[in-house]
Amino acid sequence: MGTERIAIFDTTLRDGEQSPGCSMNLDEKLQMARQLEALGVDVIEAGFPVASDDDFSAVQAIARECRKPVIAALCRALPRDIDRAWEALREAARPRIHTFLATSDIHLAHKLQKTRAEALEMIRDGVRRAKALCADVEFSAEDATRSDWDYLVQVFAVAIEEGATVLNVPDTVGYTVPDEYGKLISHLRARVPGIEGVTISVHCHNDLGLAVANSLAAVAAGARQVECTVNGIGERAGNAALEEVVMALSVRRDALPFATGVNQEAIYRASQTLAHITGIEVQPNKAIVGRNAFAHESGIHQHGMLSHRSTYEIMTPESVGVRRTSLVLGKHSGRHALAKRFEELGYALGRTELDKAYKLFTKLSDQKKEIFDEDLLAIVRDGLTHI
Ligand code: KIV
Ligand code: ZN
Repeated sequence: MGTERIAIFDTTLRDGEQSPGCSMNLDEKLQMARQLEALGVDVIEAGFPVASDDDFSAVQAIARECRKPVIAALCRALPRDIDRAWEALREAARPRIHTFLATSDIHLAHKLQKTRAEALEMIRDGVRRAKALCADVEFSAEDATRSDWDYLVQVFAVAIEEGATVLNVPDTVGYTVPDEYGKLISHLRARVPGIEGVTISVHCHNDLGLAVANSLAAVAAGARQVECTVNGIGERAGNAALEEVVMALSVRRDALPFATGVNQEAIYRASQTLAHITGIEVQPNKAIVGRNAFAHESGIHQHGMLSHRSTYEIMTPESVGVRRTSLVLGKHSGRHALAKRFEELGYALGRTELDKAYKLFTKLSDQKKEIFDEDLLAIVRDGLTHI
């Protein structure tokens, strides 16, 4: 089966940094950018240079140091923004100017106070200006999923005429649903002149918890770049989580025949680095990188896992850089898992000893949420003195 390549555009340092409590200083951004380069993302969106001098310096430093991925900088479709973005990017090995303008009637009326025709001219001028500075230009139609579809066709046609190389269709407020988003991508592919010569990109927010599902629906409909963030951080409920997009494409290649260039084993490290830098811990049940993502507590599941990992694991923890599956011992655990943990601690218990230990263990697990090795050693020491 042929597998087409999906570009991973990481915006942890730009959209991700816009989430409350996630701002990073220059050193932290550089540290994270190095991790992203090691992770093998195709594009690092390093910041929004016109926003502040710190953002400008971070983009410039990342552009100087990270030579493998494309380095993108965000700017509104305004001359000052575009020029500032280029100034920050100019030393990059592979620079990309990412310019945007809102296209929904809601944003045009209440934020920009522009007519559709005026916005179209701003897009024309903005993309043209960016293209005069940089060969690689991405244009984003902010709030695309609440924009009129026929107007979007005009918007993207203008961006292509002026030389955009990537067209991004953001679901800025996390409003769309997978089927609808897939249809929008198909509509654009069918109607926008010249679209076959550019890359279609998707950028989904998670307000309804659908960011990853929407991104995958868009890929199935023809998008070839996915914008996402490590741990799914980002404005409000966040952006599509990089690790979920990458692993869905990897684990379900049979259903979604696409490949990314991401080094999967570096996923957990990138997740931990970000959590450490921002101080924002990953929720325990977060897919792929949460503490419980490869933990099994119930006796039935643990027994299954001890017989064969494929019973309750659709990917191995090692495949994303997590050291090993953990069988968490708690009140739902069974004898098999307990015997195994005792064995790992150096105690091969016979049947009667295991029965006794299990009784003590269940009593203890009614009082404690999780049983640790020290608890088991205490059971051996105090409860099974004849061992
Ligand atoms: O969510 C959004 O629309 C954005 C754009 C600026 C790409 O972040
Ligand atoms: Zn966004």
